[in-house]
Amino acid sequence: MPSSADAATTVSTTSTRDVRLVAPAAPLRDSYRRLVAGIVHGGEKLVPFVLGFVHAHFGALLARLADCARGIGLPDGFVAHSTYWLVEDHERVVGVSNIRHALTPSLLREGGHIGYGIRPSARGRGLGRETLRQSLRRAHDLGIGDVLVTCGQANVASAKAIVGNGGVLESEVFVPDRGEIVHRYWIRRGAGA
Ligand SMILES: CC(C)(COP(=O)(O)OP(=O)(O)OC[C@H]1O[C@@H](n2cnc3c(N)ncnc32)[C@H](O)[C@@H]1OP(=O)(O)O)[C@@H](O)C(=O)NCCC(=O)NCCS
Repeated sequence: MPSSADAATTVSTTSTRDVRLVAPAAPLRDSYRRLVAGIVHGGEKLVPFVLGFVHAHFGALLARLADCARGIGLPDGFVAHSTYWLVEDHERVVGVSNIRHALTPSLLREGGHIGYGIRPSARGRGLGRETLRQSLRRAHDLGIGDVLVTCGQANVASAKAIVGNGGVLESEVFVPDRGEIVHRYWIRRGAGA
């Protein structure tokens, strides 16, 4: 997993705030926990799925995420995946991104390379789009060329964030487990914002 030091390559100062995608780190513990609590409090599903990892022992969470990025200790059928946190003004975790290093048949169908989510209280001010923008750079750093990103048909904000980052709708599939139609977008290398 890249160190937080190289996060300086993916900084946005498009607003008055500094927003950057960084590797998970211990000093952000309390803010991360508030992000998770906000999603749980709102009764939402934890997206991306790594938000469901136990974080009572924070050091263990960080070690687990680092292992996932190296492909260590994964459940059957899982590929290595890297997690980054979108941090505002060096202290607030406002989003989470999870990048799958390769596509399994299941990810090719409905999960895609990148899953991401924004803290409910921080939504609607461009951070979803920014998370995806910076995640694309991370994906390319990980050697991923064209990037598949998917979202539920009703997820208008995510669809706009994907299209705003160069996503082109390839197809839609009905996913029985989710009971919804999922839209599949490809973002060709170099097409990102
Ligand atoms: C989807 C999600 C990441 C969007 O985050 P966000 O920070 O609100 O997104 P942004 O502010 O960057 O908005 C992205 C676009 O959606 C639009 N948008 C935001 N909220 C919207 C809403 N409720 N309805 C319609 N459009 C909306 C914005 O205007 C923007 O459009 P533009 O690019 O044309 O200006 C966020 O809602 C979320 O975390 N949802 C739960 C997890 C999830 O669904 N993740 C995506 C998995 S595919």
